[in-house]
Amino acid sequence: MTLATALFGCGNVGVGYGADPVMARYYPYASHNQVLADHPGFDWVAAIDTNAEAAAAVASQHGLQAHGTGTEFPGAETIEVAILATPPGSRKAIIDALPALRAVIVEKPLGATPEEAQSFLDTCQSRGIVVQVNFPRRADQSHRALAAGGLEDSVGDVQGAFLVYGNGLSNNATHMVDLTRMLLGEIAAVQVPAGLNGYREGPLDDDINVPFVLRLQSGIAVMGQPLAFENYRENALDIWGTTGRMAILQEGLRIARYPRSDNRAMSGEHEITSDAGDFETSSIGSAFRDIYDDLADAITSGRAPVSTGESALATAQVIAAIRQSASSGAVISL
Ligand SMILES: NC(=O)c1ccc[n+]([C@@H]2O[C@H](COP(=O)([O-])OP(=O)(O)OC[C@H]3O[C@@H](n4cnc5c(N)ncnc54)[C@H](O)[C@@H]3O)[C@@H](O)[C@H]2O)c1
Repeated sequence: MTLATALFGCGNVGVGYGADPVMARYYPYASHNQVLADHPGFDWVAAIDTNAEAAAAVASQHGLQAHGTGTEFPGAETIEVAILATPPGSRKAIIDALPALRAVIVEKPLGATPEEAQSFLDTCQSRGIVVQVNFPRRADQSHRALAAGGLEDSVGDVQGAFLVYGNGLSNNATHMVDLTRMLLGEIAAVQVPAGLNGYREGPLDDDINVPFVLRLQSGIAVMGQPLAFENYRENALDIWGTTGRMAILQEGLRIARYPRSDNRAMSGEHEITSDAGDFETSSIGSAFRDIYDDLADAITSGRAPVSTGESALATAQVIAAIRQSASSGAVISL
């Protein structure tokens, strides 16, 4: 099966990251154009960007039609898969113009607000369009192995966790909250502690960076802390269990395991070997392609994809609740 596919949005995640030679050392697939150029399940026929020059550059690189006219272009009626690498705001208008659409890969955040995200999903559901949201960790084999029991094997029962993020709550905290849900379970309530207001940094208008606490349905707490990317980048999750600690570091590229051992300084006690971890390189560098592989299989088999619109909406609702608590200080239940 080959699906006629159009890329909407030829910016960083659509195309640009794939041209970064440093990123290429760790991410064989860093942007959508790289997967579309060589995935046999997707017949890439068009690049669309309201910036006509951006669309034309991609089209000449990959031998495609370029369109800088938004959603109306010759052949729009044949498109079966749309890659929505645009910012939120125009995604519903794009799919409204594609009558043969069977599936989308859509960038996070799903909408600028949970209401916009819901409206987009309602349209997809009413038309039977399969939605895969691009949370790469959901498709990555290393992260999936942790969710399937590898985490418990390494750390036992989780006692608590700490996450760091930067460049915006609606931007990278979305990835880390989604990973928390994937590995540790659903979130019952959130709060921004101690009257903290956070600060502004990141590509999305009106986004904030603020510390927060997540109370999971299991009863454990996950603490979130922003770090300014002007100093350095990191999006990490540090999980402490009953028999070990696991840290997912370097934005998911490296996974460190620190087992429990006899305490070096006190008889009859234990400690975590935080100064002697085992480090593994994850497979997240190829997760962009895994997102496409999974969608192709979901379309063929009729099963749900790994990163559904409903799941992404649940993550968006957590982010919206953190924002709400940032202005009131209240505990927000979900
Ligand atoms: N999943 C990830 O890891 C990841 C990484 C980076 C960005 N993103 C998300 O991807 C989205 C885009 O981010 P970016 O950094 O690539 O932004 P960007 O500004 O670099 O690129 C967006 C492109 O979309 C174009 N565009 C805007 N509206 C359009 C429309 N209606 N039709 C066609 N083209 C349109 C713009 O002209 C621009 O070229 C954001 O929602 C961002 O949060 C996700």
